[in-house]
Amino acid sequence: MSSIDQALADLRAAFPARFAAAETEQALRDENAKILGKKGELTAILKEMGKLPNEERRATGEKVNLLKAEVEKGFEARLAELAKGKRDADLAAPPFDLTLPGRLALPRGHKHPISRVREDVVAIFRQMGFAVHDGPEIELETNNFERLGFPPDHPATDMQDSFWTEDFGGGRTLLRTHTSNIQARAMMGQKPPFAFIAPGAVFRRDDDVTHSPMFHQLEAFVVDRGVSMAHLRGVLSEFAVRLYGPDTPVRLRPSYFPFVEPGAEVDIGCAFCKRPDGTRAGCNVCKHTGWIEILGCGMIHPVVFEQCGIDPEEFTGFALGMGLERVAMLRYDVDDIRLFTENDPRFLEQF
Ligand code: DAH
Repeated sequence: MSSIDQALADLRAAFPARFAAAETEQALRDENAKILGKKGELTAILKEMGKLPNEERRATGEKVNLLKAEVEKGFEARLAELAKGKRDADLAAPPFDLTLPGRLALPRGHKHPISRVREDVVAIFRQMGFAVHDGPEIELETNNFERLGFPPDHPATDMQDSFWTEDFGGGRTLLRTHTSNIQARAMMGQKPPFAFIAPGAVFRRDDDVTHSPMFHQLEAFVVDRGVSMAHLRGVLSEFAVRLYGPDTPVRLRPSYFPFVEPGAEVDIGCAFCKRPDGTRAGCNVCKHTGWIEILGCGMIHPVVFEQCGIDPEEFTGFALGMGLERVAMLRYDVDDIRLFTENDPRFLEQF
């Protein structure tokens, strides 16, 4: 046997074991390169062939090609075997636990300051026995204005002050300018007694540091036989104490709203400059008066009762409406109402 034949026979005998010994794809590829690569063993044999006499060259060439094909087949087979082994191992391994907590700690969100204030105020009124009503933000002109005693030419009804919407056919509609619309809705649908609150978004053509085109109010409404201003006063005092702590005084200043008579604006003792002895030093928040205005209120006007089909001789009641942004600005010392709706995390993270 020629030395070339010997080398071919040796290689044929050895390569299957060498491939079988390769445990990884990379090891297998390295081993394959040692045989078939540019400087590989079979390539070296091929080069030796040049020295052979012509008549032998052809037969030897065939043997080389045969062995090359065998090596390639062996390589592919071992490659497939390794891939299958890896896949079987993956499948046999314990499954991924999809319930494990993530490695990246996502920052937690929290309630918007207006939501927190609303929930606190709602909780206080619920503790006092008030139900919670809801109402639409797109409202009929009648419920927003007429039934509440606004004369048709009242400035609030002006294009400049309210957002009038497209006409849906059932009367003029607008984005409600206050939550007082639910007074009309309640009385048109049910008979007294009433004791409810209604929080919600309201809309006006206003835009500066203390006015936003969209803001939130909370209405309270109580109607029954024999309801007096003393009841209103009692609810206000209790509300002030529960919101701002004991020794929070309340005062009523006469004011005008079309749907109440008498009407009042309500101030509470400033919580920011309160001294331990209960007196108030005066500060920037209360503009050095010791008092902060928080809401409007009054006794339901008899005309409102009549418009809504309730006998003012039989029933009396009170209503109040407060701005939730205002309560939030006071509580959190925020000086620009627009911050609440700008969605800037640097602001919202502070709550
Ligand atoms: N609706 C009034 C406003 O938006 C607030 C208000 C005042 C509500 C007096 C009332 C009330 O229920 O009695 O300015």
